[in-house]
Amino acid sequence: MTEHEMDKVNSENQPPVNRGYGYETIQLILDIIIVHLHFWYYIFEHIYQLFLKKEEKDVRGEIVLITGAAHGIGKDTALEYASKGATIVCWDINERGNIETVKEIKAMGGKAFAYVCNITKREEILQVAEKVKKEVGFVSILVNNAGIMPCHPLLDHNENEIRMMYDINVLAHFWMIQAFVPEMIEKKHGHIIALSSCAGLFGLKNLVPYCGTKFAVKGVMSSFYEELRTIGLHEHIKLTTIYPYMVDTGLCKKPHFRFKFMKLISPQEVAKTIVSAQRRGIMEMSIPQHYLYLEKFTNFLPRKASEAVNDFLNSGVDSDL
Ligand SMILES: NC(=O)c1ccc[n+]([C@@H]2O[C@H](COP(=O)([O-])OP(=O)(O)OC[C@H]3O[C@@H](n4cnc5c(N)ncnc54)[C@H](O)[C@@H]3O)[C@@H](O)[C@H]2O)c1
Repeated sequence: MTEHEMDKVNSENQPPVNRGYGYETIQLILDIIIVHLHFWYYIFEHIYQLFLKKEEKDVRGEIVLITGAAHGIGKDTALEYASKGATIVCWDINERGNIETVKEIKAMGGKAFAYVCNITKREEILQVAEKVKKEVGFVSILVNNAGIMPCHPLLDHNENEIRMMYDINVLAHFWMIQAFVPEMIEKKHGHIIALSSCAGLFGLKNLVPYCGTKFAVKGVMSSFYEELRTIGLHEHIKLTTIYPYMVDTGLCKKPHFRFKFMKLISPQEVAKTIVSAQRRGIMEMSIPQHYLYLEKFTNFLPRKASEAVNDFLNSGVDSDL
């Protein structure tokens, strides 16, 4: 037996050190003081940072992969990143639209690559990911954007529709993370952006399964952050979750709103906010920004009080059937 192994056996046979009740009480008091200091420090730090415009990181030299890049928010996010000098990898099931996005990026002097990938299929994701790594390089920014939004009362949704929504809007996030994050961990460099929605902050009628998927994205991102923080990688691999209100891409087929200030947002504005939030390292961003604060505030309100405000505002989506 080596000296090291002997030490190990000896230490395993030692009874646990009993430091006594007094010691544990002192430790507890110290921990309470420390948690108080941290708590107030981080609250004041946050308030201070609200008045500071965080510097936007340079994305030149980064390779950004975007799912659902053929249309809507994904396409505009691809164009926005390309305008900042990043190399873009466009993934979509819609080959023609995807090639069009790449053409537009090249026409503005940018660098982009198109890949067809159906993100409901895990094997396909892993295969296409390997191809991208060989042909383009290390993907350092991943935008999990592709999503679908069938919109009608819960009992009118069929099984396939619900399963497909969870495959694209939720499960694909896991497969994409498993395909690209190991290399980010190895290089201690990376950023994942996930598209949730205001439907991931508030429950809405006609969107029961969709809201479920978007609440799930919020849960996945906040718990994945906890895992990264526990292993000390949260400063190297950043996460950003985006919660847009209704966007003018056609996904939201029958929107309604009582007041004009609640009208649809342009995908270009959403894309600019996504890229800026990522470059500033912001973890959660709603579009408009105040919706995230509104959600936190309404959690304090009695249910019926927030229902009264919702009924007054009367904004949402009608059934597409
Ligand atoms: N439009 C809105 O009102 C709105 C609001 C909040 C959040 N979002 C979210 O933003 C994201 C983008 O929405 P959008 O409005 O740009 O949608 P969109 O329909 O305009 O674009 C979605 C893209 O995803 C692609 N896609 C769909 N299924 C795919 C699959 N299986 N594999 C690969 N690609 C696939 C489509 O071909 C399309 O190009 C979605 O996650 C959506 O839930 C949209």
